[in-house]
Amino acid sequence: MSLWGGRFDGKPAQVMQAFNSSFELDKRMHAEDIKGSQVYAKALGRVGILTDVEVQTIVEGLDQVLAEWNDGRFDAKGTDEDIHTANERRLKELVGSVAGKLHTGRSRNDQVATDMRLWLRDSIDKLCDLLCDLVKILLNRAEQEIDVLMPGYTHMQRAQVVRWSHWLLSHASNLAGDLAKLRALRSTINVLPLGSGAIAGNPFGVDREWIAQELGFQEVTVNSMASTGDRDFVADFLYWATLTMIHLSKLSEDLIIFSTKEFAFVQLSDAYSTGSSLMPQKKNPDSLELIRGKTGTIFGNCTGFLCTLKGLPSTYNKDLQEDKQAMFSTYDTVSAVLKISAGVLSTLKIRRDRMESALSEDMLATDLAYYLVRKGVPFRDAHDLAGQVVAKSEKLNCPLSHLTLDQMHEISSVFDVDVHSVWDYENSAEQYRSAGGTSKEAVLVQIEKLKTSL
Ligand code: ARG
Repeated sequence: MSLWGGRFDGKPAQVMQAFNSSFELDKRMHAEDIKGSQVYAKALGRVGILTDVEVQTIVEGLDQVLAEWNDGRFDAKGTDEDIHTANERRLKELVGSVAGKLHTGRSRNDQVATDMRLWLRDSIDKLCDLLCDLVKILLNRAEQEIDVLMPGYTHMQRAQVVRWSHWLLSHASNLAGDLAKLRALRSTINVLPLGSGAIAGNPFGVDREWIAQELGFQEVTVNSMASTGDRDFVADFLYWATLTMIHLSKLSEDLIIFSTKEFAFVQLSDAYSTGSSLMPQKKNPDSLELIRGKTGTIFGNCTGFLCTLKGLPSTYNKDLQEDKQAMFSTYDTVSAVLKISAGVLSTLKIRRDRMESALSEDMLATDLAYYLVRKGVPFRDAHDLAGQVVAKSEKLNCPLSHLTLDQMHEISSVFDVDVHSVWDYENSAEQYRSAGGTSKEAVLVQIEKLKTSL
């Protein structure tokens, strides 16, 4: 059964039928499609287009269709063009010709937009939970491992001493931002298109506000022509997913580097690593590499779908059917990636000895400049003088802390006996007390802030 055909003499070619069908993808929205139809049938009943008995027959028939889906009995037909066709076809088989009244004043254009918003709204709730779990894992580790120091890098060169927790929180704060954006996205998605018909609206006066309420939507779309062709909510989701994946990809990249033998700051659990078929000694961070790799695929889904939207005429065009592939595959990937990330980060072992032995005194050169600043030297001069101290230590081939006070006085008379306090990594980290810094206190404040944001 097809939902059209009255004006056709011929049947679609078999290749065309397969090409046109979205059923294999959109059957995932079978429950949303049924829920939307049940509420729509009731809305038609409220304006007298269906009798109470007809409404009941349709609603109960759809319950049966849902039950068939739920226990795997739903029998799909090759001619089911999409989930909307399939559910209505089955309803008719179960309850007879009254099923033909369900679609009164409705179009698959407002129907599919409604199904997708329902599906994505609920799926976003699941992603929020997964993202929340992941951030919590990072926050717990940051709390427990707060005393561990490590080199912080810029340009992949040792830069300044930071807490390992500070590094963890740098990623946690990106992800907490993603969570906030996802929650905001949920409310832009939660708007009802049903009742827009094909483009012109609904001619039977159905109460869209009532439908919205029944389906848990916050409001109804403003304009029927806009809402049938509007897939901005899908594009927003794809962009959100792209940025979130970029954050996870960067986190993965750091961990891949940290897990090399050369760094050995962290050790991935066996549960999230794989071996080599040739080299017996290998333990590869495949989980993290896959996250990094799949980021490209998600970015592709986003740009691909934006290209689909570009230059479309107003309202519904079949190009929009491409939204399913982009939305579902992005959801599946992001949801798997969030689970894997949580697994990796909760089982990861850190090597405190390796992190701390990677600290080197040259990383304290900035602190030496700050030492002079605290004694009244302008920062520009202090920077230069500290640079001269570094040059001297390199020339004499001795660590900064081994230079004598006399040797330092050759550079500046401001250096005093208390300069030895600079050669302490813990002190170095502890001076960064302002909000957002790497001192213990500042890190604890960040943990609290991020916790409350969840
Ligand atoms: N399967 C279609 C889609 O996903 C449903 C809407 C069809 N509308 C139409 N006018 N042919 O976009």
